[in-house]
Amino acid sequence: MSPKLKDFNELMNSRFSCRAFLTKEVDQKTIDQIIKTAQKVPSWCNSQPWKVSLLRRETKELLCEKLLPSAKQTFETPDINFPERYAGIYKTRRATCGWQLYNAVGVQKGDREGAGRQMAKNYEFFGAPHVAIITAPKDLGAYGVLDCGAFITAFTLAAAALGVSSIPQAAIAGRAPIVREVLNIEEDRNVLCAISFGFADTGHPANSFRTQRADLDEFVEWV
Ligand SMILES: Cc1cc2nc3c(=O)[nH]c(=O)nc-3n(C[C@H](O)[C@H](O)[C@H](O)COP(=O)(O)O)c2cc1C
Repeated sequence: MSPKLKDFNELMNSRFSCRAFLTKEVDQKTIDQIIKTAQKVPSWCNSQPWKVSLLRRETKELLCEKLLPSAKQTFETPDINFPERYAGIYKTRRATCGWQLYNAVGVQKGDREGAGRQMAKNYEFFGAPHVAIITAPKDLGAYGVLDCGAFITAFTLAAAALGVSSIPQAAIAGRAPIVREVLNIEEDRNVLCAISFGFADTGHPANSFRTQRADLDEFVEWV
């Protein structure tokens, strides 16, 4: 393997979705470096459609205060419809990573309350000191969202390269009206997700597992 690919794989392997953070803050210079690196991804016509709303501590606390009570309500109201269903292999993979998390944090099968408690941690941003809300212009449709997806991935990788852990959270987009109201998001933009980030609480059980990836023959074809 070439040294560059080895380095890249090491970076890819070091990233994981972090679900428990230390309170220590990331300095502004590091945050700027993450964003400046992430914005180097390609986008259709170089439109760079992502907008990054970084929450000040008070804003994060206010949003958290408004989101937490909504955790009891299962009905979600995202700007962009959530997946209709996960069937077949997608259902299997979803269940596998869900059980990895539940096993790690000690939620047993049938413990709906425990599962609900773990889900609600989304609305506390898993204790992360920093949250970025990512929005896309409605006019750019699915391809604008695709471009933002690239930005989100690059953000998590640039963060990992600087020792900063992160997690993209669509759960927050499920409460888009609350996010819109608290952050004053323009009507012509869709709320896509949050990225919570900071330093990982490495000893926390929620951070103790790593997800797997499929073999190439499951998804690569020569046609
Ligand atoms: C767009 C997107 C939205 C996600 N939303 C959530 C979320 O709301 N809550 C959560 O705990 N994890 C969320 N995740 C994390 C995924 O569960 C995670 O990426 C996946 O299980 C693979 O694990 P890894 O990131 O540790 O490699 C999201 C990931 C992506 C890319």
